Amino acid sequence: MAVDSRSAGIRNVQRPGVSQEESQDFYKTWAANYDKDLQSAEYNAPRATAKLLLELFGGKTDVRILDVAAGTGLSGEALQEVGFRSIDALDPSDEMLALAREKNVYGRLIKDFLGTNRLDIGDGEYDATVMVGGMAEGHVKCDCLEELIRVVKPGGFVVICMREGNLRRVPEYHKLEPRMEALQREGCWELVSRHVFPNYVDADDGIIFAHRVL
Ligand SMILES: C[S@@+](CC[C@H](N)C(=O)[O-])C[C@H]1O[C@@H](n2cnc3c(N)ncnc32)[C@H](O)[C@@H]1O
Repeated sequence: MAVDSRSAGIRNVQRPGVSQEESQDFYKTWAANYDKDLQSAEYNAPRATAKLLLELFGGKTDVRILDVAAGTGLSGEALQEVGFRSIDALDPSDEMLALAREKNVYGRLIKDFLGTNRLDIGDGEYDATVMVGGMAEGHVKCDCLEELIRVVKPGGFVVICMREGNLRRVPEYHKLEPRMEALQREGCWELVSRHVFPNYVDADDGIIFAHRVL
């Protein structure tokens, strides 16, 4: 039943202390119901992020975007809806990526984890990296920011959207804003906006960090 799968899905991905392996195992079974569950939970994060990215580019849509932690492609669909056409996807889950492929939203689909590993992507290949929902228990860690920056050309953007509450609830993300600030001091990027918005999913607030790569 949709409601059962939805509550189990959202609860499981948020379980405190869940490991990366457990979280990935979970997406194997949740993938088939993911879109239906998130739609019934009024998942506004992809639309809010796509709208902000369009504003950052001043309405220009002929740019290359990498959708990181793309999952089944809800974030890619939202980017396409506002007019972006050149979008690639990165996600470690075969099951999630298989569903993303069916949507014909993405050019290249890259199966990999974002972390400290070097992705099979050249420096500055993209105008923007976007990550919606990739920062949760057992998901992407704070040590991934350098790689998100590396693949974006100078002047491009790194846009990260997550549940605002995860900044406090998830111990890993206590380090997130200090790390973002350190990278700004090191001259890697500059903060353009830090936007808190309602109804990321259901009644939970979301936050979108937008940085310009230097
Ligand atoms: C909540 S889903 C978000 C999917 C999509 N962006 C959306 O908005 O619907 C989180 C995704 O993050 C992916 N993920 C988890 N750890 C990751 C990592 N280290 N690197 C990249 N993606 C990861 C999962 O496989 C899952 O597909």
